[in-house]
Amino acid sequence: MAAPGIPPIRLGLIGTGLAVEKLHWPALRGLADRYAVTAFTDASAGQGRRFAEYSGTDPARAAVSRAALLARDDVDAVLVSVPIPNLYEVARDALAAGKDVFCEKPAGVDEQQAAAFLALAAGHPDRTFVVGENYFYRDDLRHARALLDDGAIGRLHLMAWRYAGQSVPRAGGFTGTPWRQRPQYRGGVHLDFGVHHIAQIRLLCGDVARVHGAVQTANSTIDAPSDLTLNLVFTGGAIGNYTASFPEIPVPPEPNEMRLYGTEGVLVLGGSEAERHVISSRTDATTRTTVFRGSDNGYRAELVDFADAVQFGVRPVGGVAQSVANALVVHGAFASADRAAALALDPVPGAGPVPLWRPRGSAGLFDGLPGQRSSSTASFAA
Ligand SMILES: NC(=O)c1ccc[n+]([C@@H]2O[C@H](COP(=O)([O-])OP(=O)(O)OC[C@H]3O[C@@H](n4cnc5c(N)ncnc54)[C@H](O)[C@@H]3O)[C@@H](O)[C@H]2O)c1
Repeated sequence: MAAPGIPPIRLGLIGTGLAVEKLHWPALRGLADRYAVTAFTDASAGQGRRFAEYSGTDPARAAVSRAALLARDDVDAVLVSVPIPNLYEVARDALAAGKDVFCEKPAGVDEQQAAAFLALAAGHPDRTFVVGENYFYRDDLRHARALLDDGAIGRLHLMAWRYAGQSVPRAGGFTGTPWRQRPQYRGGVHLDFGVHHIAQIRLLCGDVARVHGAVQTANSTIDAPSDLTLNLVFTGGAIGNYTASFPEIPVPPEPNEMRLYGTEGVLVLGGSEAERHVISSRTDATTRTTVFRGSDNGYRAELVDFADAVQFGVRPVGGVAQSVANALVVHGAFASADRAAALALDPVPGAGPVPLWRPRGSAGLFDGLPGQRSSSTASFAA
């Protein structure tokens, strides 16, 4: 994973809010051989100071504005982690300044901006430009994808996934940010959080050919629909349903499991970040369960992939087109709900099936990665 003899990428951070504190910095801290934070800026000076304190970064590395940060020669690449409505303009300016760019998701507040993200990438072919999607890098999901590729459940014909969880503003949590409560982007929580689920669906089931969505508003703390139910037809022929609900009342614990039904078996994916499981069953009612512990949600691996792209010219899995394809499923779902009709989705140029990420130079899925895995077998035969 390390890049011997190659100096770390000099990284500038634009936006140092919750995602940096909870997700990016913990990953960057463990990747000192790949990244050195040489500058940071945040619209809130207090937020910048907070970053300097918990990360131990020299406060003198604070830039007064994004223009000042982008003008610095000691910044090779930029991590853009600002609220969703501001992502595009910041990524655009960073590319114009000649930086490589890792921009947070989603790729587009609406269909028009999704197209603008694609045009932006096309206009900067000499730069590495990624709109992050950490789910493409999750160990459990990559394991499940490898099982599917190996034919473990035969031909996938049905996907079923219901995800429900209370969402109320919590101080210090993602739901506490005002821009999420009054979203200035189509889809609200379904574009912010649900887009990761769409990435998971696309990674495992392939591209989406048709959507038929319906939405409901049942959470007074979010100025956007809390419920989405979405029927899907995949380009490979499988069908599926994804239903997501973020009510303000507590809901009884739900398994929130994704189930993939094939002609030769079934895959069940569940658990939480601390412990995820993938259960593969066969026609003889035997199961093999693999449990994943101690790995993050893919944040470390997505930054490794970006570094490999910048330093070695590797084509990153989470390119802009893949993130646009994810966002367009959400936008298609909402457009379909508005029209009360099923909607065909056009293929996104440069996207297609999501590639399966493996550590660079490795044939295995997990070589050199942190995290533990254990497997067991059982039977559910009567
Ligand atoms: N991949 C994931 O799992 C994941 C999780 C959470 C958030 N995110 C993404 O990360 C981004 C940030 O989310 P967050 O939860 O950290 O939000 P946040 O509000 O906690 O942080 C955003 C920060 O950006 C600053 N800011 C706003 N506009 C700015 C500008 N123009 N220039 C510089 N700084 C600016 C704000 O002051 C704030 O500190 C969002 O795009 C979100 O979609 C991704």
